[in-house]
Amino acid sequence: MIKINENYLKLPGSYLFSTIGKKVNAFIQDNPDKKVIRLGIGDVTRPLTPTITDALHRAVDEMGKEETFRGYAPDLGYDFLRNAIAENDYKARGCDITADEIFVSDGAKCDSGNIQEIFALDNTIAVCDPVYPVYVDSNVMAGRGGQYSESAQGFSDIIYMPCTADNEFAPEIPKKVPDIIYLCFPNNPTGAIINKEDLQKWVDHANEHGSIIIYDAAYEAYIRTEGIPHSIYECDGARTCAIELHSFSKNAGFTGVRLGYTVVPKDLVREGTSLHTLWARRHSTKYNGAPYIVQRAGEAVYSQTGKTEIRGLVDHYMRNASYILSGLKDAGYTVYGGTDAPYIWLKTPGKMTSWEFFDHLLNTANVVGTPGSGFGPHGEGYFRLTAFGSYENTVEAVDRIRKLGA
Ligand SMILES: Cc1ncc(COP(=O)(O)O)c(C=O)c1O
Repeated sequence: MIKINENYLKLPGSYLFSTIGKKVNAFIQDNPDKKVIRLGIGDVTRPLTPTITDALHRAVDEMGKEETFRGYAPDLGYDFLRNAIAENDYKARGCDITADEIFVSDGAKCDSGNIQEIFALDNTIAVCDPVYPVYVDSNVMAGRGGQYSESAQGFSDIIYMPCTADNEFAPEIPKKVPDIIYLCFPNNPTGAIINKEDLQKWVDHANEHGSIIIYDAAYEAYIRTEGIPHSIYECDGARTCAIELHSFSKNAGFTGVRLGYTVVPKDLVREGTSLHTLWARRHSTKYNGAPYIVQRAGEAVYSQTGKTEIRGLVDHYMRNASYILSGLKDAGYTVYGGTDAPYIWLKTPGKMTSWEFFDHLLNTANVVGTPGSGFGPHGEGYFRLTAFGSYENTVEAVDRIRKLGA
């Protein structure tokens, strides 16, 4: 008889954002006159910029003419996009990454969920706690999680690295050496950043022990502080231990367009096998390439006008972030993040749990955020607000929260 993948059954509860969605919908049904402001999900709200929509239109026209029509895209991405990425995201920053080490995809979520496939099931993984849930869930689905413990709110075979106010939400290197380490900076959900010296320690540790770092740089465009690394390849030796994930979602507003890329350097070799070759094999077997139209839009992100417009998008969200940050500080909240990331991580007032504060904020200020405990046990007692709303809504939400007091 057919058997299902029982690892899926080990995943606890329903997906965080569907639980939030249900609670918000119930509130709206009971309170149809109330204006609910959503600062919960990390989805962008600004439209695509003119340089991007022009590129999309041009590419659509090309697809409608026999001479310029394109069928399947190259599995690993068109050269025009891979070259633009290598030039702008790496060479310009002094990183030694070439176009043929870049794998274009339809976003960082898929890549962050799929990359574990090229590693054996008995590898141990380490994740930050709190964490972007995809890293944990995709490994649990594959069978690397062990058993879920309700009391510990975690999986027995996963190494959780606490990220707390004491370590400024950047994890310490765990005592037990992990095989695969997931790091994400600027961080979702805490908005924390890592300096080059600390990131270098991770790279050195990984090289010393043969571990692999999967470095999620989805929020790199939000870095404002001078000297903070935009890529792990700014660190010496990262070519032999790190894979890097990128997204066009949060910098260029492509959450609905879908485009991302993963870098697997050719120097990344384990057990005599090139991980670049394995990922190329996986990519070309299971993926048929991001659409031509979308890759042309991605190329436009790196044009002069594209860069200026995209900077404007990020500036817009960062203006919201600084309004939230200063508004909540004024109101007496303890807040983190928000200076180099579109996320503000706040301590819930009094002894409120994350979900109690969620209900309190929804019922009294009609503002939706995300309970920190949804990102891991060390997220308990914290709450995430995003800067991805409109400026008007952000101001209104913060003013409502301010009126409540901390
Ligand atoms: C850390 C992190 N990585 C990846 C993603 C997903 O990016 P994409 O839209 O490219 O799939 C997100 C989305 O919220 C994220 O927070």
